[in-house]
Amino acid sequence: MAVHPLPMSPPAPRLGPDQVLETLLSEGETWGDSSEWLPALPSESADLWFTSPPYADARAYSRIHPDRYVDWFLPYGKLMLEATKDTGWLVLNIKNRVAKSGPLQGQRHPYVYQLVIALQQQGWRWLETYIWSKPNAVPGRFGPRTKDSFEYVYAFAKGPKPYFDLDAIRVPYKTTPEEIERRKLDKLGRRNTGAGFGRDRTTTYLRGGADPGNVVSVPQTYNQHKGAGGHTAAMPEGLAEFFIRACSPEGGVVIDPFAGSGTTAVVARRLGRLGGGLEIHRSFVDAAHERLQRGEPDDVPVVIDLAR
Ligand SMILES: C[S@@+](CC[C@H](N)C(=O)[O-])C[C@H]1O[C@@H](n2cnc3c(N)ncnc32)[C@H](O)[C@@H]1O
Repeated sequence: MAVHPLPMSPPAPRLGPDQVLETLLSEGETWGDSSEWLPALPSESADLWFTSPPYADARAYSRIHPDRYVDWFLPYGKLMLEATKDTGWLVLNIKNRVAKSGPLQGQRHPYVYQLVIALQQQGWRWLETYIWSKPNAVPGRFGPRTKDSFEYVYAFAKGPKPYFDLDAIRVPYKTTPEEIERRKLDKLGRRNTGAGFGRDRTTTYLRGGADPGNVVSVPQTYNQHKGAGGHTAAMPEGLAEFFIRACSPEGGVVIDPFAGSGTTAVVARRLGRLGGGLEIHRSFVDAAHERLQRGEPDDVPVVIDLAR
């Protein structure tokens, strides 16, 4: 397949850092190359970078060989670190791939893990690996392995005390209401098991919902690119919602440097954050502006259009 060079986009305007940030947040998605715009942002201005960068070798819009992926990404990592608040995050959705050639042909290429280690060495604090589980991943021919039904979401914090709101992502308890009421009356408190583990059963059900855990199940919405300007890698809004709720305060600044059809900014704004993004392809920017204007949810989960 042909290698598509990155298209030309207008250079970052010669504005002061605060005005550059203002431009991104007011436009919602800006046509431009992140490598030019990120250096123009004020330092310590973003609460959250939530992004799904081009995966290695994956799409026609930007072909980056997995062997060169870490070198390609690290300059962006450095620029984002500089422009992140001490309490802020970089949350990165990425997927590994099978090596097409070379000594690792047919095996999983390690570029994702190499990138995580390199970002940690760059100064990002690697706090968690989430699994985005796709309950409706489509089958295909993947070689001697099962279909791909998850992607990674790596959460890196800038400082030792990042903003994190677990209450914002709690899920309903699975236990019956009767049992929850019974447990609340349990006055015996912490109990140890034979294995030495223990937990305070009196407080388990007082938090308004359960900790969702680090496997986040969100259906891929295969027809969502109809509303995303033909973008074939648009993420489901539910994935963005989970991390924006947890990792950014209301009114906080959420930016996607590889914004595609604008999912991050659309969801961030809907949740009362200031959302912006950068995208190098003009047609995706236009689609994002339409979505931003509409504002209403784009995803129709579990409606799978296999005809396309
Ligand atoms: C995986 S897609 C993002 C999809 C997005 N999360 C959505 O929901 O639509 C990655 C995007 O990054 C864009 N991109 C690649 N290099 C870029 C750069 N240097 N600056 C801005 N955008 C870039 C690509 O054109 C592509 O649309």
